[in-house]
Amino acid sequence: MTEAKSLRLAGRIGQIQPSPTMAVMAEAMRLKAEGVDVVDFSAGQPDFPTPENIKLSGEKAIADNFTRYTPNAGMPELRQAVADRYREDYGLDFDSSNVIITSGGKHALLNLMLSLIDPGDEVVIPTPYWGTFAEQVRLAGGEPVFVATSEDDGFRMTAEVIAPAITARTRILLLNFPANPTGAVIGDEEIRALGDLIVDRGALFLWDDTYARLMFEPAPAAAFQYVQQKLGERFVIAGTASKAYAMTGWRIGWAMGSEAIIKACGSLQSQMTSNASSISQKAALTAVKADQAPLAEMIAEYRWRASRLRESLLEIPNLRCGMPGGGFYLFPNVSHYLRPGETTTELASELLDDVRVAVVPGTAFGCDGHLRVSFACSRELIEEGARRVKRFFAARANS
Ligand SMILES: Cc1ncc(COP(=O)(O)O)c(C=O)c1O
Repeated sequence: MTEAKSLRLAGRIGQIQPSPTMAVMAEAMRLKAEGVDVVDFSAGQPDFPTPENIKLSGEKAIADNFTRYTPNAGMPELRQAVADRYREDYGLDFDSSNVIITSGGKHALLNLMLSLIDPGDEVVIPTPYWGTFAEQVRLAGGEPVFVATSEDDGFRMTAEVIAPAITARTRILLLNFPANPTGAVIGDEEIRALGDLIVDRGALFLWDDTYARLMFEPAPAAAFQYVQQKLGERFVIAGTASKAYAMTGWRIGWAMGSEAIIKACGSLQSQMTSNASSISQKAALTAVKADQAPLAEMIAEYRWRASRLRESLLEIPNLRCGMPGGGFYLFPNVSHYLRPGETTTELASELLDDVRVAVVPGTAFGCDGHLRVSFACSRELIEEGARRVKRFFAARANS
């Protein structure tokens, strides 16, 4: 093929970074496929299979030829079922017109960013943060404003920490709790205080609740109700079936908010993806409508793994690590082991080369000095991975 002129890509592509988390995952998968014995602590997804009842609904959708377009915003019964789930779980007042079904939580967030952000708008993001937040804000023409939370305070995003970052240009306060990567959660009073902080500032309260159904303690539902009442149509949620229902590959998420916001997202979606997969929507309908009791078993298992892995890691001298409030990540501080000028990107790469353990470096979350260690893997792998990590740091200490 001859190339007359060099190819020019759009400017916006140069403004974003590909997901570093996905890159680590891809490398771990590549090594595993080559037969290398990797302990994969990088996964951002449950190791549990999708529950049988959910899979059966997907199979039935195919058998019943439910394989055509659905309405852009999703099947009406799924939109209603998602609204009902939030009413039952948190007492939130949404109905089907306040819900749009998307192709995953990432897509729900992008719909919201593109619908709400104008050039120059600021989006306040507590750090450490999930990298996608900032990239999507930039894609939408906005400016991410990072606010550092403190490790000593369990990385909690409190009104006190956030207040100095709120300006007349703040369009969205973006809160993700339990947080990826820290597992930080905030309590009833803190959530209310954050609602109070922005109520007179015209900003939106966007809660990414991806890990909320995997909290180790009951969620502070009354505080969510308070924020919804206080902020009305400026209270917005981005959610997903991916993590709680072990459905990452099915690609189903949702955005929830005022009818006007949901209509705007629908309009965008109608020109971009049309609708989320009809088959996956049927499966998600079962996920949100079925008895939620099996979740408690998954949560108990994640909690066990969190404390076991944390205990093991804390045997490494000079390593600090808090206990997450939910989700499936630990975020240990390994800064003691960094060589002069080195970042955790290099350290994580050496960890993979030397002892075949994949983790995501803190640099991917705007917080060097830490590693994100996922415990979404079997107990055996947790024991084996912990042994290897200990060996790695012992060797570093002596080098
Ligand atoms: C904080 C957070 N939000 C949203 C998502 C989106 O997940 P999905 O697109 O699989 O629904 C993720 C996935 O890792 C996440 O960690």
